[in-house]
Amino acid sequence: MEQKESIFRTIIEPFVIKSVEPIKMTTRLEREEILKKANYNLFKVNAQDVLIDLLTDSGTGAMSSEQWAAIMRGDESYAGSQSFQRFEASVKDIFGFKHVIPTHQGRAAERILFSVMCQKGSVVPNNTHFDTTRANVEYQGAKALDLVIEEGKDPKKIHPFKGNMDVEKLKTLIEKNGSNNIPLCMITITNNSGGGQPVSMQNVKQVKAVLSKYGIPLYFDAARFAENAYFIKEREEGYKEKSIKEIVQEMMKYGDGCTMSAKKDGMVNIGGFLCTNNDLMAQKQKDLLILTEGFPTYGGLAGRDLDALAVGLQEALDESYLHYRVSETRYLGEHLTEIGYPILQPPGGHAIYIDAKELLPHIPSLQYPGQSLSVEMYIAGGIRTVEIGSVMFGKVNQKTGEETPSEMELVRLALPRRTHTQSHIDYVIEVMKEIFKSKSKLAGYRIKKQPPFLRHFTANFEKTT
Ligand SMILES: Cc1ncc(COP(=O)(O)O)c(C=O)c1O
Repeated sequence: MEQKESIFRTIIEPFVIKSVEPIKMTTRLEREEILKKANYNLFKVNAQDVLIDLLTDSGTGAMSSEQWAAIMRGDESYAGSQSFQRFEASVKDIFGFKHVIPTHQGRAAERILFSVMCQKGSVVPNNTHFDTTRANVEYQGAKALDLVIEEGKDPKKIHPFKGNMDVEKLKTLIEKNGSNNIPLCMITITNNSGGGQPVSMQNVKQVKAVLSKYGIPLYFDAARFAENAYFIKEREEGYKEKSIKEIVQEMMKYGDGCTMSAKKDGMVNIGGFLCTNNDLMAQKQKDLLILTEGFPTYGGLAGRDLDALAVGLQEALDESYLHYRVSETRYLGEHLTEIGYPILQPPGGHAIYIDAKELLPHIPSLQYPGQSLSVEMYIAGGIRTVEIGSVMFGKVNQKTGEETPSEMELVRLALPRRTHTQSHIDYVIEVMKEIFKSKSKLAGYRIKKQPPFLRHFTANFEKTT
């Protein structure tokens, strides 16, 4: 790929900093005290007590000066605002779908889509459902099926498109099950729950060919559509000379609609949308939208939010930005691998996932090795991450209290967009080097108190030794 900066290895941020937010420096002793008060739950730590916040890349990025200028143009008219018109034009320009329905975030688009299309007993295939997507499918009494390729389930396997859907499995599903109760098929780009791994254009074409035979519509969960297109440009034959926008436009032509969490590649702090080419569905969706989100020209967002999003979507297509974004994630992944950390390979677009089970074999799954590592990252360097393992996905039998661990014990380091500099990443790497030296001394944790569901947000922990 022709990159203007390609002969130099240093990753530079393709922007200058115009507005800054100070971060508070804390000592190890202070952080130990903070964490004790938070019962070793990083969700309970105040943001000002975090040095580098890698909890999520959702809604945590920085907006550009053009987006802030767009905010000032916000037209707050209840109906038919100019902000909506600019937002709609921007979405149509990139995605090309006939109907564009704004929502306050991705899960609202999901709820409306599945309420309209699914019923009890429906089956919805996806490469891997994101957890809110799965929850919204299941809420309708439908079944959410994950059909990612086998390579996508093996953390060590290197494959250029680990987010691909297994086309044979999709065919078998439809042949065995019939197509009547499959109201739609989803593809998540990039595949967040599978490690931010991309989906190839060829895979989308193959999936579409199967679905077309049976008249099943294809919808994209497009949260990271631009990162996915960048990987296609980088890795798939025939796309080197295409622009990111052309790649996205081509992919969307195979779809019948999409859901979007604009807090990712929309480059905004809040927002989402739902698109469809189907007039009847669009009418039903808008009726539902009015019930809970708002009138169809604002859908729960302010006019200024729609304007910031109209600009952000276009900025996400910028190749210099995407090069920096993907390189920054890869840089972190490569350095962690060099230190000896087992990570989900290859690095995806928005985050690095450390395999804490392999890193800390002395801590049993039900003493939460991922929690142990993420607590240590905070104490050692003020870095906040999230455990994606048995704390988040372990199943507790409410009658017996017996607990089944999750399949994997991961810690996710998600990178907010345009927020951290290269030296912040170098700092993270330095902290991780120190932790690695004494990893065998890290202790496990037990849960002192937990709510009946979504326990990771509020549970209280204590060390096992
Ligand atoms: C792939 C994917 N789909 C859907 C969502 C849900 O979006 P939101 O958080 O805006 O409701 C997310 C959020 O992380 C996501 O990563």
